Parts: sequence; structure tokens; C-alpha cells
Amino acid sequence: MIVYFSGTGNSRFVAKRIAAATGDELFDAFSSVREGKGFTFPDSGVYVFVSPIYVSAPPMAFLDFLRRSSFPDGCLAYFVMTCAGGMGGAPAYCRKLASEKGFTYLGTAEVEMPQNYIAMFKTGTPEENRAKIEAALPEIDRIAATISSCRELPDPGMKTWEYLSTEMVLTPYYKAFMSAKAFTATDKCIGCGKCASVCPLGNITLQDRKPVWGGHCTHCMACINQCPKEAIEYGKGTRGKLRYHGPDALMKDRQQQKRP
Ligand SMILES: Cc1cc2nc3c(=O)[nH]c(=O)nc-3n(C[C@H](O)[C@H](O)[C@H](O)COP(=O)(O)O)c2cc1C
Ligand code: SF4
Ligand code: SF4
Repeated sequence: MIVYFSGTGNSRFVAKRIAAATGDELFDAFSSVREGKGFTFPDSGVYVFVSPIYVSAPPMAFLDFLRRSSFPDGCLAYFVMTCAGGMGGAPAYCRKLASEKGFTYLGTAEVEMPQNYIAMFKTGTPEENRAKIEAALPEIDRIAATISSCRELPDPGMKTWEYLSTEMVLTPYYKAFMSAKAFTATDKCIGCGKCASVCPLGNITLQDRKPVWGGHCTHCMACINQCPKEAIEYGKGTRGKLRYHGPDALMKDRQQQKRP
């Protein structure tokens, strides 16, 4: 079973590609995360948890979902983290979660994908992002082959300082920065409601056909990147910045271009 959480599609893309190679069933944690619930997974066996990296760790919302969920005894666990540069201290969090849940830990792998954190950084151009995804495909396939043969993932060689620096910044960062206060909708908004429907925390409501953000934001960047009119800004820093529309749209275009 491949259990994934994804804000802007990178982790979904990786989860689907692994599932296509291993033949595993897919479970999207979106609805459970949004409802603040866990899930009772009935089957024992191999679990692959796929998610983005938020601040050098798996997203708190995903870890909380896994903590609330129940699994039969004797499960084996792989973790696959999508990131834009490096997964930092994440393996330590995954190992800890595996121990809490009684899983046999089989390792954590990193897949470098396009940057989606446009509140803080720039994403690439569509061409740069396509190239990054294409460069990631062999690594995703290597990970899938390791999972298929039930071998341990190679040790990522995490340094102690990577874990310690993550521990030091993680909670303060969530408290100081993971807020929706800076989101606004411009006059380009057509009131379609997509931002509200893609928010994994149900943090957006539409009032007078305009989004209003609440107090539960995990900075997943789904709303701002997926608005079809690019009508959402985060303070002044996102004005004029490219939006990241996710791998499915990018790779679909590429396949169409390649057709004779
Ligand atoms: C809140 C937030 C924090 C992030 N922190 C990191 C980070 O510490 N290191 C990194 O390499 N990428 C970081 N990223 C980039 C994402 O991990 C990366 O783009 C990921 O593939 C997005 O996955 P998704 O499309 O499934 O949501 C961050 C993105 C967000 C939204
Ligand atoms: S997705 Fe964009 S256009 Fe649609 S309601 Fe939200 S801000 Fe407005
Ligand atoms: S408000 Fe936007 S950035 Fe925050 S959790 Fe919802 S979709 Fe993600």
C-alpha cells in the first residue's frame, strides 16, 4: 500500500509511478488529513509513505495523520520524501514514527522535484521543472525496484547536525511562518472555489465568491499554485512570480510534444 500526502502534485506523481512499478494500491491521505481523522488500515504488509519535505522534515499534518491511524502488527515501512534540494533531518523523523507505530523500518529515500514553496522561493520555468522531473524518473524507478524486492533503501548518510538543525528550527518555523495571514485574492479571482477545494486543511471558505483564509494553514502552497487565474498572492513577495502547476500538466505537455 502506498500512502501519500501532496500539496501541489509532486508526491502524488512519485507515489503513482512507484505504484505503477510495484503494483501496490494507492491511498491519498487528503480527505483524512482534511477531516483531522486517522484511518484504520486493515492489511498487514509493506507500506510506502510518500510526502513532501517541509522544513527538512515530513509535514506535521501528515505525521499527525499517521499517528492517528492504526495499522496491523508486523508492517514494514518505507518513506519516500520529495523535496526541492534536500531532505535534511527527515530520515530521523521517519525512523521515529516507524518505531512509534511498531513498523519495521526499511529506510527513507529522497526524490528531488521542482520547488513549490513560492511564498519563500522561486519555482523554475516550465522547461526547468520538466527537466527536473525527467531527471528524477530513474531515481524513482530505482526506489520502486528496491521496494519491489523488499530490500532496505540505501542509507542516505544523514549527518547528526542535519537532524539537530531541523529540530531547532522546525517548531519555531511552524509557529512563526506557517500562517495564511499574508494570502489575498486579487481582482482576477472569478470565485471558482478551486482554492477551497484543494486545501488539505479545509482552511479556505468562499464569502461573496472570494476566498477567505482561516487560521489552520500548513503552507502547502496548493491554493496559490493551483488557482486557475493566478489571482492569489502571498504578501508582496509572490507578485510576478511563476506559479508551479504540478508535474501532471508539465509531463502531459511533454508527451504531446513528442508525438509525431
Ligand atoms: C512549507 C514548505 C517547506 C519546504 N521545505 C523544503 C525543505 O526544507 N527542503 C527542500 O528541499 N524542499 C522544501 N520544500 C519544497 C517541497 O518539499 C517540494 O517542492 C515538494 O516536492 C512538494 O511536494 P508536493 O507537490 O507533493 O506538495 C518545501 C515546500 C513547502 C511548501
Ligand atoms: S481558485 Fe483563484 S479564481 Fe478560484 S476562487 Fe480561488 S482565488 Fe478565486
Ligand atoms: S490555505 Fe493554502 S497554503 Fe494553507 S494549507 Fe490551505 S491550500 Fe495550503
